[in-house]
Amino acid sequence: MAGFQSLPGFRDFYPEDFSRRQHIFRRWRLAASAFGFQEYDAPVLEPLELYKAKSGDEIEAQLFNFTDKGGREVSLRPEMTPTVCRMVGEKAGSLKRPIKWFSIGEFYRYERAQKGRLRAFNQFNADIFGEPGPEAEIELIALLIQCLAGFGLSAEDFTIRLSDRDLWFFYLEALGLSDVQSRAILSAVDRYEKMGDDAFKGYAEAHGALAAETKEKILAFLKIKGLAELEAALAPFQSAKLATRLADWRKVLAGLTAMKLADFITVDLGVVRGLAYYTGFVFEAFDRKGDLRALAGGGRYNDLVKKLGGPDLPAVGFAIGDVTTGLLIEQRGLTPTFVSAPDVYAVIGGEAERTAAFADIHALRAAGFRVDYPFKDLAFGKQFKVAAESGARLALIYGGDELAKGVVKVRDLSDRTEQEVPREQVLAVVRDFLSGH
Ligand code: HAM
Repeated sequence: MAGFQSLPGFRDFYPEDFSRRQHIFRRWRLAASAFGFQEYDAPVLEPLELYKAKSGDEIEAQLFNFTDKGGREVSLRPEMTPTVCRMVGEKAGSLKRPIKWFSIGEFYRYERAQKGRLRAFNQFNADIFGEPGPEAEIELIALLIQCLAGFGLSAEDFTIRLSDRDLWFFYLEALGLSDVQSRAILSAVDRYEKMGDDAFKGYAEAHGALAAETKEKILAFLKIKGLAELEAALAPFQSAKLATRLADWRKVLAGLTAMKLADFITVDLGVVRGLAYYTGFVFEAFDRKGDLRALAGGGRYNDLVKKLGGPDLPAVGFAIGDVTTGLLIEQRGLTPTFVSAPDVYAVIGGEAERTAAFADIHALRAAGFRVDYPFKDLAFGKQFKVAAESGARLALIYGGDELAKGVVKVRDLSDRTEQEVPREQVLAVVRDFLSGH
């Protein structure tokens, strides 16, 4: 049809697409409730100010913002984190601790279209407020793993890359870098994969005339891929901060190992996260093959609640997206085939029999059975064909002869056996049959 199309980066969900999306949401909700998280929701339109200088330059450049008819500067939400911080901040005093919340909703970013990146997408967000220790990280990383493992994905399909902005800052400080220099280095670490070694060293040079040896150390730190390597790199330093941080690392990894989730974790100091508010542990989920953009991202953000006017409240959280998750489960052949087959198909002789059929059809539906029937009179043969194609388990046959005897024929569509059932027993017979098969 020539005419209207949806906007670039926005999706229509035809029933089959909708089922796939529901499947994803259902698994995420199941995981969240198994972990004792409570669901919340919030507006999709927020004051622009909420995102200014809080989410970071990249997200700020991608906002869907406008002036509303009352002259307010507003924006569609690009992420949930500032909103949930505002909500928790407002009621922090009266909320039961620990605060473990989750939500599922649509978000909007004016991104350049590419595989796995759209302008309207869904995220599952899970966050814990009020817990400063690494126990919150263990809980959230375990939940993130379950949000993917719930589809049948294994440690061979995806991995969680775990890193730590605090550790980076403490390490760079121990190497003698200033806070400004450290920040510049971290933003380069964020882009390292695109830059490569030489460009990275050039950038580091431009931001602080560092000794060649320091640059090598930073580069080596960035490439660390395990706890033992990390411990070795930090061993020469006598820093209490670094020692405390290492203890937190051991705690997180030991907790996840005890949950038998160690195979899902990759220590990777190359991850620092682009968003402005992260303060400690940060993590991202990726498919192992590396075909897709990030599946999920998160970390600790201890200052954001306060920055938005709330109390001083530590926080950790993550968001997982439906676009890359959907692509991954499809790639691995884990998308279920969705059947919306009726339980019962009513085959109706003609207009005269329709009245009796309608009474039973509605009674069955009201009792929770899925029942379908033809809107118009059709030949019996044609109706049986439709019934078989619909995937229904039973056909109820409302013919003139049967009704004259006060019965309905119940046909088992799998083996075509039939029995005559008195009208008043139809509901009980259908219930027996469907619960017994
Ligand atoms: P994020 O890394 O910007 O983090 O997004 C998390 C996930 O959302 C991504 O890994 C990706 O799956 C999905 N996503 C993001 N942008 C798009 C897009 N344009 N198209 C499709 N999917 C996308 C955050 O949003 C943080 N607020 C997460 C968080 C929660 N941190 C703490 N709590």
